[in-house]
Amino acid sequence: MLSLRQLELKGRRVLLRVDFNVPLKDGKITDDTRIRSSIETINYILDKGGRLIIISHLGRPKGKKAKEMSLMPVAEQLSSLIHRPVKFIPDSIGREVEQGIAGCEEVVLLENLRFYKEEEENEKGFAESLARLADVYVNDAFATAHRAHASTEGITDYIKIKVPGFLMENEIKWLKKVSQSPSHPYVVVLGGVKVSTKMDVIDNLLPKCDRLLIGGGMSYTFLCSAGQRIGNSILEEDKIDIAKKILDKAEDKLMLPSDHIVADRIGQDAEVRTVKEIPEAWIGVDIGPNTINSYKREIESANMVLWNGPPGIFEIERFSNGTEEIALAMKRAKERGAVVIAGGGDTASAINKLGLKDSFTHISTGGGASLELLAGKKLPGIVALEM
Ligand code: 3PG
Repeated sequence: MLSLRQLELKGRRVLLRVDFNVPLKDGKITDDTRIRSSIETINYILDKGGRLIIISHLGRPKGKKAKEMSLMPVAEQLSSLIHRPVKFIPDSIGREVEQGIAGCEEVVLLENLRFYKEEEENEKGFAESLARLADVYVNDAFATAHRAHASTEGITDYIKIKVPGFLMENEIKWLKKVSQSPSHPYVVVLGGVKVSTKMDVIDNLLPKCDRLLIGGGMSYTFLCSAGQRIGNSILEEDKIDIAKKILDKAEDKLMLPSDHIVADRIGQDAEVRTVKEIPEAWIGVDIGPNTINSYKREIESANMVLWNGPPGIFEIERFSNGTEEIALAMKRAKERGAVVIAGGGDTASAINKLGLKDSFTHISTGGGASLELLAGKKLPGIVALEM
C-alpha cells in the first residue's frame, strides 16, 4: 500500500471515506468516538492543502432517503471538532454535488451513501460517479472494511491514487500484530453474548495465544458443554458440540469462569448471589471473585493482551464489577509495558464508561470488521487499497 504521507496533496481534491456511523438519539450524536478517530487524517489532509470531500454511511436505510439517518448532524459536530466550517451537501453524487464541491475551498461532507441502494450493491456506475469527484481516494473507514461496497471497494477501480488514512493504518497494524505475530506471553480475553460470532476468532487465535480467558454470555455454552449446570443463563444449544470440540483441543490453554455472579432476573433491582455452580432458574450475569483473581493474574503477567467482549452485563451497574476489574488489570499490564489492544463496540463503550480509554495501546473502532480481521480473513476494503 502507498501511504498518505507519500502523496502531494496541495490543491488536490481528496475523497475521504470514513465510518461516521455514529449513534443518534433525537437527532443528537450520543457518542462521537468514530468522528474523533478520523480527525488526525482530516487535519493532515487539510494542513497539506488538500480539498476535502468526506463520504460515509450511517445506519441501514436500505437504499432509501431517511431523514433520521442524515449525516447533517455529523457535519456540525465535525466542524466544531476541527474548528473549520464544514459544508454539508444533501446528496452523494450528481450535478448538485459537483457544483457544491467546485464552490467550496476546504471541507465538504456528502449525504449518507446508503440512501442509494447502489452503494451496498457495489454498483459500477455509482462507484465511478464517486470517483469522478476527486483526484485522490483515502479510506479511513476501518469499521466498514469488511463490506465490499461501492465506496469501499468498487471505487478503487476508477481512481488511481488510493491510500489508507491514519486510523485505517493503525487498525491494520495492531489487529494484524495480535492475529499474526503476537509477543508472548499472549493472553486473549473473549466475552460478549454469543459464542457463534467468535468461533472463527477462537479458531484463529487459539494456536497463537498462551491463554484464552472466556467470560460473558458465551461462557455458559462452554460450561454447558463441559457438563456444568447453567440455570437459565444464555445458551446457544446448536453450538454445544463445537464448544466441546474447542475445549478438548485447547486443553489447559482455555480458562472458563470458576465462579459466577448470578441474578434471579436481569435488572438493577434483581436478587444477586455469588456461586460456584449456577442453581436452577438463576441467570449468570458476571464473573465471580475467584475468576476475576485468576484472570487478573494472567493479564498482569502478559506481554500482549487482546480483549474482545465484556465478561458481564456491564451496562447494569450491579453486574459490572468483572468488566471493571478486567479493564483495570489491563491498565496495569500496559503500565508494565505490555501491548494492550481492545476491540468491539461493547468493549469500547465499557472502556469509555470507565474512563480508561488512555490505558490501552489501541482500541479498535471496528465491530464486525475487527472480528473478521482477528479471524484471519481478508477484508475487501483493505485488499482494494493494495497496489
Ligand atoms: C459498523 O457499525 O459495524 C459499521 O459501520 C458497518 O455497519 P453495517 O454493519 O451496517 O455494514
